[in-house]
Amino acid sequence: MTLQTIILAAGKGTRMRSSIPKVLHRLGADPLLGHVYRTAATLKSDAIYIVIGHEAEAVKNSFSFEPIHWILQDRQLGTGHAVQQVREHIRDDATVLVLYGDVPLLASATLQKLLDKVRSDTLALLTVRLDNPLGYGRIIRNPQGKVLAIVEEKDASDAQKNIAEVNTGVLAVQGKPLRHWLNGLGNDNAQGEFYLTDIIASAVRDGFSVETLETPDPYEVLGVNNREQLACLERQLQHRQAAWLMEQGVSFRDPARFDLRGEVAACGQDVEIDVNVLMEGRITLGHRVRVGAGVHLKNVTVEDDTEILAYSVLEDAHVGAGSRIGPYARLRPGTVLEGDVHIGNFVELKAANVGHGSKINHLSYVGDSSVGSGVNVGAGTITCNYDGANKHRTVIEDGAFIGSNSQLVAPVTIGRNATIGAGSTITRDAPADQLTLSRSRQLTVSGWVRPVKQVKK
Ligand code: UD1
Ligand code: MG
Repeated sequence: MTLQTIILAAGKGTRMRSSIPKVLHRLGADPLLGHVYRTAATLKSDAIYIVIGHEAEAVKNSFSFEPIHWILQDRQLGTGHAVQQVREHIRDDATVLVLYGDVPLLASATLQKLLDKVRSDTLALLTVRLDNPLGYGRIIRNPQGKVLAIVEEKDASDAQKNIAEVNTGVLAVQGKPLRHWLNGLGNDNAQGEFYLTDIIASAVRDGFSVETLETPDPYEVLGVNNREQLACLERQLQHRQAAWLMEQGVSFRDPARFDLRGEVAACGQDVEIDVNVLMEGRITLGHRVRVGAGVHLKNVTVEDDTEILAYSVLEDAHVGAGSRIGPYARLRPGTVLEGDVHIGNFVELKAANVGHGSKINHLSYVGDSSVGSGVNVGAGTITCNYDGANKHRTVIEDGAFIGSNSQLVAPVTIGRNATIGAGSTITRDAPADQLTLSRSRQLTVSGWVRPVKQVKK
């Protein structure tokens, strides 16, 4: 079977009140249209046509790497007119699937079921029952239950408006009859538009049977027209992602207070996630990883038995097994921690490797550095990596001990098992196994008297 998928995305999205085209507004990590495109791609579509019009260039440029056939609809004269723009590409022997760029949560399993209903003389239509069907096209059936037509809200009689079963807009049919029906569309209706939905009546007239698939899940077919609906679908997406993670063995203190904008590529068992955690990009979590409240992870790998305490921010970082990070730690891009590393509060790391069992527990900046294993970096230590023009590396070898409030002015190497006295500014390499310090000697001034305030009379 050849599958040609058409995604309609030419509309303006006036109710978003935005300078960004509606289909480029984000849901999770991706624009609305990206979700629809991905679903179409998982169906193994042979070709995907996206009909664009409003802000066409901006939409196109956002998907420059995908194999998409872009079809321009100059003026938006209706959904039928939009599909007419693709008409010359539609193959007689293909199955054609029509999707909407602003309906992001449709599951490919549902679409597969819909496609399975397509025969040479059937048109498959996805419908849903809504408590409030206002605004949607209603499904008109005869007394035997056969579909006869779709009537748009603005063209519906009062009796028809009471019908709860509505058109989701999603349909599938073979190419040959579709091309034929597209030729016959008119715009003699309340909106003066060429309705795609009019092909239903044409199909019935030509002796086709219209097979419906009713989805039990309204969110799946909900479109985005305004920012409130966008926020509503964002919650739905988050709810689904959290549910999926729980199925994999992740515990959430409150799944309603979790956001994932990207993917958890792999995840061990008995992972615990506290409230208000945000994960972005590609995340990998080992077994028994614990993520504290308010933690933000972006493109991070965390190995087994590691705990990330509250309000820590990690980006493009790798954390080895059995480590403890935070609270309030910041791991910036290029941070790689081996196992059993402790990074404490108000510690910032950037492009730094830290070896097994090392500790940087308080108020430090370690950037462009290689830290060996078994190293202890005291409170307030700073690697001075930037001279105003260039960045330089700091090397701290295995077993070194850096006294509190030291500045290591890079490029500099602290040798194996070296000790740096507290409060030192180290500008030259410190030799292995020895104490190096740079501070003025302590002085006591005898006979010095502290000034006293004169009290006015
Ligand atoms: C359409 C259906 C209606 C269905 C509803 C579901 C028709 C005539 N009506 O109505 O039965 O219940 O969707 O949400 O099809 N678009 C274009 N070019 C155009 C017009 C629209 O690309 O000229 C795109 C829009 O960007 C949008 C989609 O098609 O993504 C639907 O258009 P919209 O105007 O929202 O159709 P509705 O009136 O909601
Ligand atoms: Mg609509």
